[in-house]
Amino acid sequence: MILFTGAAGYIGSHTVLNFLDKGFTDIVIFDNLETGHIETIQTLQNICGNVKFEKGDLRNISDIEQVFQKYKINFVIHFAAFAFVEESMKNPSKYYRNNILGTLNLLDTMVKYGVKKIIFSSTCATYGEPKYTPIDENHPQSPINPYGFTKLAAEKMMDSFDTAFGLKSIKLRYFNAEGADKQKRTGEQHMPETHLIPNILKAALNNETFKMYGDDYNTPDGTCIRDYINVEDLAEAHRLAYIYLEKENKSNVFNLGTNNGYSIKEVIQACQEITGQQINVHIEQRRQGDPAKLYSDSNKAKEILGWYPKNSLKDSIKTAFEYEKLQQSRKISMN
Ligand SMILES: NC(=O)c1ccc[n+]([C@@H]2O[C@H](COP(=O)([O-])OP(=O)(O)OC[C@H]3O[C@@H](n4cnc5c(N)ncnc54)[C@H](O)[C@@H]3O)[C@@H](O)[C@H]2O)c1
Repeated sequence: MILFTGAAGYIGSHTVLNFLDKGFTDIVIFDNLETGHIETIQTLQNICGNVKFEKGDLRNISDIEQVFQKYKINFVIHFAAFAFVEESMKNPSKYYRNNILGTLNLLDTMVKYGVKKIIFSSTCATYGEPKYTPIDENHPQSPINPYGFTKLAAEKMMDSFDTAFGLKSIKLRYFNAEGADKQKRTGEQHMPETHLIPNILKAALNNETFKMYGDDYNTPDGTCIRDYINVEDLAEAHRLAYIYLEKENKSNVFNLGTNNGYSIKEVIQACQEITGQQINVHIEQRRQGDPAKLYSDSNKAKEILGWYPKNSLKDSIKTAFEYEKLQQSRKISMN
């Protein structure tokens, strides 16, 4: 049975959908629903009655131990974490406790129950200020915010657990996840939403002003360049990493991005084309710690996992727009 931690959330729920669509049904989800949604779990269980859900908090080791006692887990895919960079700068303790202690409790429990394989949601935030672009997996890891530190610490813990106990891990360093399930079964619903595309789309749908932080960066149009990776492509990478780890039984690390960057102005332009709406933009001061350019070299995942992104930026915007409209219509019908 595969244990998915944090799959009531955005990337985890898309990954469960990918596994279900490919015929995996022995799935248990563990989530405290702090940023995830019970409706997402219900959707997944409606698709496959076999999906089990256990509500619990990784910070309490007894919560996660109960899951390992109850089910015969043989593989873990670990999404559960807090993931807002700005919040991590204001409230570092919340991040160190959840993302580090939570992961440590999970790893200790895995060792106790003899489970030796894990896929981990890491991030490009572990690299910090880029020394060069595109960023490959050998780029130095020097995070510039507590969120990035917690994810780097979790990666290091996994390496130590490999040395000590032979626990094998695949660390997947995502760039900027965007988009939604094409069938609108799940999508992005962060509270508050900090990601670019849903915020531009919300501004378009509600006739609000979109706040853009800085237009004086050293890039061709002055706005930051980021690597936007489609969430369904991310989900597929987890399944390929699962197959790789089952077959090779070797720890490894992969960037997951598109090898390409788009500026914020380019993303706004693409959102205008797809929504047919003019988006009002207000230019604010630069935010602290936002590098000008961040995009990946993800060739290693292509060579070793056979993974490559199939969806374009516009595909991500289209699916995110469809999902955002659905969410807004649901809210209206509830009021
Ligand atoms: N969204 C991105 O662009 C992005 C980029 C890089 C890395 N990541 C990583 O991917 C993972 C998933 O991100 P997401 O965007 O889906 O976030 P999300 O907030 O939508 O999902 C995280 C899930 O984990 C659960 N959770 C958090 N702490 C928990 C705990 N202590 N016990 C049990 N459940 C807990 C939440 O309730 C939520 O359902 C995170 O680890 C994040 O750091 C995300």
